[in-house]
Amino acid sequence: MRRNIVHVGADQLRYEIREIVERAHEIRKLGVPVTWENIGDPVQKGESVPEWIKAIVHELVDKDAAYQYTDSAGSKATRDFLAEQANKQGGVNIRPEDILFFNGLGDAVSTLFTHMRREARVLGPSPAYSTLSSAEASHSGYEHFTYMLDPDNGWQPNLADIKKKVRYNDSVAGILLINPDNPTGAVYPASILEEIVAIAREEKLFVLADETYRNLVYPGSDTAPLSQVIGDVPGISLRSISKDFPWPGARCGWMEVYNQDKNSTFRRYIASLLDAKRLEVCSTTLPQMAIPKVMSHPQFAGHLARRAEMFSKRADEAMAILGSVPEISVVKPGGAFFLTVTFNIDLPSSGPLPPIANNQVYRYVTELVKDVPPDKRFVYWLLGAVGICTVPLSGFCSSLPGFRSTLLETDDAKRRRTYETLAAAIREYCSYQA
Ligand SMILES: Cc1ncc(COP(=O)(O)O)c(C=O)c1O
Repeated sequence: MRRNIVHVGADQLRYEIREIVERAHEIRKLGVPVTWENIGDPVQKGESVPEWIKAIVHELVDKDAAYQYTDSAGSKATRDFLAEQANKQGGVNIRPEDILFFNGLGDAVSTLFTHMRREARVLGPSPAYSTLSSAEASHSGYEHFTYMLDPDNGWQPNLADIKKKVRYNDSVAGILLINPDNPTGAVYPASILEEIVAIAREEKLFVLADETYRNLVYPGSDTAPLSQVIGDVPGISLRSISKDFPWPGARCGWMEVYNQDKNSTFRRYIASLLDAKRLEVCSTTLPQMAIPKVMSHPQFAGHLARRAEMFSKRADEAMAILGSVPEISVVKPGGAFFLTVTFNIDLPSSGPLPPIANNQVYRYVTELVKDVPPDKRFVYWLLGAVGICTVPLSGFCSSLPGFRSTLLETDDAKRRRTYETLAAAIREYCSYQA
């Protein structure tokens, strides 16, 4: 071709959470049943959407308005509702014009980075959530720029690392945080959020908070939404209905923008996101129409509280089983529904793998593990040996060897068996001498 049409960031578009699925399908074809612990879809893992939410959707299906385009920014009635709800909680005041709807947060993240000036970087956590880290990396053409979440401190952000990195890299325009976090499940107390906001204020940055799991904070965890700590600093919160209705297939998420009136560059940037959305016309209408009806339903608060408690109990169960394996460390999550395991020992990066009963699978996995990071070697072996499909931590921009599993399995016996199998497999892998 006479012109190279490949984007400078093309190599940065990696989504390990789904890439491993192709390998898992191959292994399944070779006769190993697969337990999917890689993806954060509660419905796919057997959770039923409450009947009263389905009834709301049924009712909307009968309305012609649900089949129309909606405003480019999103349904005005829904934005009015969300702004009113947010303002009731206190903190920074927001208007319906500060809310912008997308086809899921995947779309929001992609739009946000596609329309950000290329030289402007957003410093994000490591381990990182791949949609955000890959989009940021692809936009800049460089590896994602990260600060450390500290496993020895409950995966809390290392504030000294953030301070140092923003001070000595003037390309950094914003700080990203995910609260509750994916993949670690950490929940940040208000005091930590306030410190991040203070750094942003001092260095004239904006704060980008992914609050996808905001309604999944376990009892006893203390935190605050960004809107309550942001003060006068420019900020964006990312919200979604994927994980709490739960309705990931709706592809419906939104951005709440704080303090665009306080900074003209920030205001211009946000206006460009709405202009970009206008080119696309709008995001899906029906799920937006469902939001006020679901969120103001008398059963919504109880639904959220029950789920938070359920995941907290599952986290205790996983901790009780995996916490006794000396070769790994696990921090009990305070929210969301993921579990991140790190290895305390050096994992091999080459050499023969521990046995796998099915010879064809052994040969396939042996091919797969050539030239991959040590934790990915383990994850492929685990998949082949016991059929549990997890995601290596190296796929989350992390140099710590480990993997992410979930708390989503709804079949109690199967979930328990999965953690027990995982614990036994880790022991076998770590004690294997070729
Ligand atoms: C932290 C985080 N942000 C964003 C998303 C994307 O969510 P959506 O379904 O709204 O695209 C996910 C999905 O897993 C997530 O975990």
